Amino acid sequence: MTEPLDFIYRRRSIRKFSDQPVSQADLDQLLKAAMAAPTAMNARPWEFVVVTDPEVIRKIGNSLIFGNHHPAAVIAVCGSTGVAKNLATGYFWVQDCSAAMQNILLAATALNLGSVWVGVYPIRSFVRSISHILNLPKRVTPLGLVYLGHPAEQKPARSQYDEKRVHWQIYEQPQKRSIWQLFHREGMAPDGEESTPAGLDVELPEEIKEL
Ligand SMILES: Cc1cc2nc3c(=O)[nH]c(=O)nc-3n(C[C@H](O)[C@H](O)[C@H](O)COP(=O)(O)O)c2cc1C
Repeated sequence: MTEPLDFIYRRRSIRKFSDQPVSQADLDQLLKAAMAAPTAMNARPWEFVVVTDPEVIRKIGNSLIFGNHHPAAVIAVCGSTGVAKNLATGYFWVQDCSAAMQNILLAATALNLGSVWVGVYPIRSFVRSISHILNLPKRVTPLGLVYLGHPAEQKPARSQYDEKRVHWQIYEQPQKRSIWQLFHREGMAPDGEESTPAGLDVELPEEIKEL
């Protein structure tokens, strides 16, 4: 049975693609999904450049050291002060465009396409070369590229859930315990000695704290 969130866990970075093109219908759906993303004050500070021309894709791949993966199509997600609806754009365009990027990746997974996020902004040399290749005007900044195609590699679904990264209600700082506190706890400190003798007030290594 397909679980409702399967497509989230099935989304993996796919870097090997077949030669089969991505259909126009799929590209349209991906762009629609992108523009369904949340955006601060509904500013929609985004424009998209869709590339299917193999020559342009080759130039893009050659210009990015982490992006030489030969996709069938590329969607460049760009922040654009020209089309933004309000001042929120200046503060939030990166978040807005990132949400659009993620929507494209998830939609691609749901359509059984392979995809990978290739980062551009804020690496200046990447921004410069992608802007040049795509002929972007000054007011348009490429945040990132989604490489797309029919997958030629398989990766298992997964979450990477880690309970240690989760804090409930408030963030509890790890308790600082000194060797002296450990002595107290274990009943090894001499009676009446409350303050830490010089030299014993050192942080305990993690494995001792667990004792
Ligand atoms: C902001 C950002 C930039 C990334 N840039 C690249 C990139 O330039 N090249 C690439 O192959 N993968 C890139 N990735 C994909 C990550 O390497 C990948 O998401 C990560 O290793 C986790 O693997 P998964 O996507 O399969 O879960 C990027 C991901 C993010 C979020």
